[in-house]
Amino acid sequence: MSGLFISFEGIDGAGKSTHIDSLAAAFTAQGRVVTRTREPGGTRLAEQLRTYLLNDPMDAMTEALLVFAARRDHLQQVIWPALARGEVLLCDRFTDATFAYQGGGRGFDLHILAMLESWVQSWPGREDTAPDSAVLQPDLTLWFDLPAAVAAQRLAGARIPDKFESQPQTFFEKVAQGYAQRMAGDPSRIERINANQPPEAVWHEVYLRVQRRGWLP
Ligand code: TYD
Repeated sequence: MSGLFISFEGIDGAGKSTHIDSLAAAFTAQGRVVTRTREPGGTRLAEQLRTYLLNDPMDAMTEALLVFAARRDHLQQVIWPALARGEVLLCDRFTDATFAYQGGGRGFDLHILAMLESWVQSWPGREDTAPDSAVLQPDLTLWFDLPAAVAAQRLAGARIPDKFESQPQTFFEKVAQGYAQRMAGDPSRIERINANQPPEAVWHEVYLRVQRRGWLP
């Protein structure tokens, strides 16, 4: 059985976590081995970088370099091995978040991000020669789309906000535009979920998207 890589995206407050749990349970019920992980993070080193990324002020390029360094370690230690074992890999955020947050939100150069993406996501040992087809992408990305104003209401008072969560609404509007632009560039991989409805309706959409690809009954 071949590995399956599904990532989950959206602005802070879009409410993806419970659906990742539900999807993990649905795959497990089918006898699949599921690895649930997140970015930035997923390894000891990447989780340490996450702490800096979410708390320390830094310029957008530093942010981009750190998320990709964390991603490379995560790929090497967790993602590639799990896919090679034929597992279902569910990742809370991946590179689309970098294009949306560092690219859209912070305005960092998308060409540099694209270059880093092709280096970091090339298979081990193939970095110098890798053709585009060797650049790993998720098999499916579910983008939980929610208006920034609604997300802000959901987040208000929920907990102490981190560096990104405390950004103004205009930042998240730019992040959402970043996701929309990314989806336009890869419409067969990225599917938009309307996250502005009751959780059961959101879950229904999530399940349908995965079922339609023949991965769940
Ligand atoms: P998030 O995934 O929302 O976790 P939690 O639910 O625990 O808050 O937090 C990760 C934050 O990191 C989020 O605000 C988006 C940001 N981020 C980037 O800016 N760039 C990236 O490449 C990634 C993966 C995340």
